[in-house]
Formats: sequence, structure tokens, C-alpha cells
Amino acid sequence: MKKLFVALMLAALPLLSFAAEQGPELEKVAIDVSDKAAMQDGARTFANYCMGCHSAKFQRYERVADDLGIPHEVMLDKLVFTGAKIGDHMNIGMQPADAKNWFGAAPPDLTLVARVRGTDWLYGYLKSFYEDPARPWGVNNVVFPNVGMPNVLVGLQGRQVIGCKQVQVVEGGKKQFDPLTGTPLTHEACDQLTIVPKSGALNEEQFDEKVKNLVTFLAYSANPVKLQHQRIGTYVLLYLAFFFVFAYLLKREYWKDVH
Ligand code: HEC
Repeated sequence: MKKLFVALMLAALPLLSFAAEQGPELEKVAIDVSDKAAMQDGARTFANYCMGCHSAKFQRYERVADDLGIPHEVMLDKLVFTGAKIGDHMNIGMQPADAKNWFGAAPPDLTLVARVRGTDWLYGYLKSFYEDPARPWGVNNVVFPNVGMPNVLVGLQGRQVIGCKQVQVVEGGKKQFDPLTGTPLTHEACDQLTIVPKSGALNEEQFDEKVKNLVTFLAYSANPVKLQHQRIGTYVLLYLAFFFVFAYLLKREYWKDVH
């Protein structure tokens, strides 16, 4: 009986961990990893705001520069702050042991994070820091509760606070209305984030764009080969189109004498 119980508990484990992963509903964000302007902006944000703590050590500066169409001198001048050379991996100076002391958790390498967490999660996470005086850095996060990372983008986004608001009831992705009166059904939700107006350098739309570009860069970084596949795909199609013309002319030539 005991054995059976243990076996059942083990069988239920994946379910439990799945339940733990269930956070707030994430906004869907359309990421386009062929948008070089977006990725260049994202790479700049990453170098300026993230590489103080996070590496992208499976990626080389040179590869990023070439893939994103950034000249090597510009890359070295504007995106490399560690004295690294263009052929170096995107490492950082911070030691994991120090980081663990300072933050309670070491900032993980971010090269592959878009594959592990997904782009919707990353977008939601970076936008969901809010003020919480009880936390060591004065901020918490709705998507990653009690996170050890400070809100590094606060200067751009502004101060975000959490509070209760009446929001419309949504079931199965559909907004719910009162069947008799047609008025929206609402309930009080206490995880609603609001930005204190004019407290950041960017307005909400500009900030969303900034974060989206950053996530686009991280999506590229997790799968740089995709960009190459797209390029090769274009060449293959061009080649096929070209070849078709010749094949057709040749066919006409051969059949001329048959008719
Ligand atoms: C001051 C240091 C610091 C800076 C700068 C910083 N982070 Fe972090 N970050 C951390 C720490 C520490 C953690 C680990 C948090 C934890 O596990 O509680 C973390 C965790 C993360 C995670 C979660 C990873 C995972 O899968 O668990 C992501 C994603 C992330 N950071 C992205 C970013 C991005 C993007 C930037 C730049 C905009 C950035 N971070 C800037 C310290 C930093």
C-alpha cells in the first residue's frame, strides 16, 4: 500500500511542477528574427543594460555583428565594454560566486534563455517588475515572484506599482458579459500593474517596443542558425526560379522538331 502511494506521488510530480509553473496569463508577442533593425536595437540594450551581470557566452561578438549587419568597428566601439576582441565570446567579468553573494542567485547565461523560457515569458518578465519595499532591491515581479534581479530598466519604463482594479472576467480567452443586461462581468484583481506617469524616459508604447527588440535579439541569440536558414531558403527559391526558365527553354527547343 505504501509502495503504491509512493508510486502515485511520483506519478503526480510532473503535474505538480506544471502547476507551479502556472503564472499570470502572458501577453502574446509576435517576434520577427529577420528584423535586423529590431535586433540591432536589442543588442545595444543587451550590452548596455544586461551584460553587467549576464553573459551570452555561446555567442561571439563577431558572429552577432555579421549576422545583424553591424560593422566590426561600431560593434567594438558601442557594444563591447569589457575590452574583449571581436572574435571573443560574449563573456562578463562578474564571478558567479560573487554574484550569488550579492543577489542570492547567480544571473544565468542568457544565450539560450529564449529557448528555455519562450519569448512571451521573457517579454512579460521584463515588463512585470513592480515596487515592493519588502524585497532586497525594492522590487518584485509578477511573472517571476521574489526574483533576485533588480529592475534594471526602471529608468526607461518608470516606476511600476501593483494594486487592485476591477477587470473584466475572461473565460477560455473570451471576455464575459452578463447574458441579461449585456454589461461586462467584472471582478476585483489585485495583481494589476500601473506605471506612474512620466516617471520613465520612455512612454509605454516606446518601452514595449524596446523590450520587444531586446526579446527579438535574445530569440535570435538562442537560434542564430534560423537566420542563416532563411537566407539559404531565399537563394534556393531564386535558383529554382532561374532554373525553371532554362528548363522551359530547353524543353521548347527539344520539342520543336517533334511537332
Ligand atoms: C545587477 C545584475 C543584473 C542585471 C544588470 C540584469 N540581471 Fe537579469 N538576473 C539577475 C539575477 C541575480 C538573476 C537571477 C534571479 C533569480 O534566480 O532569483 C537574473 C535573472 C534573469 C532572468 C531569468 C532567467 C531564468 O530563466 O531564470 C532573465 C530572463 C534575465 N535576468 C534577463 C535580464 C535582462 C534581459 C537584462 C537586461 C535588460 C538583465 N537580466 C539585467 C541579475 C541581473
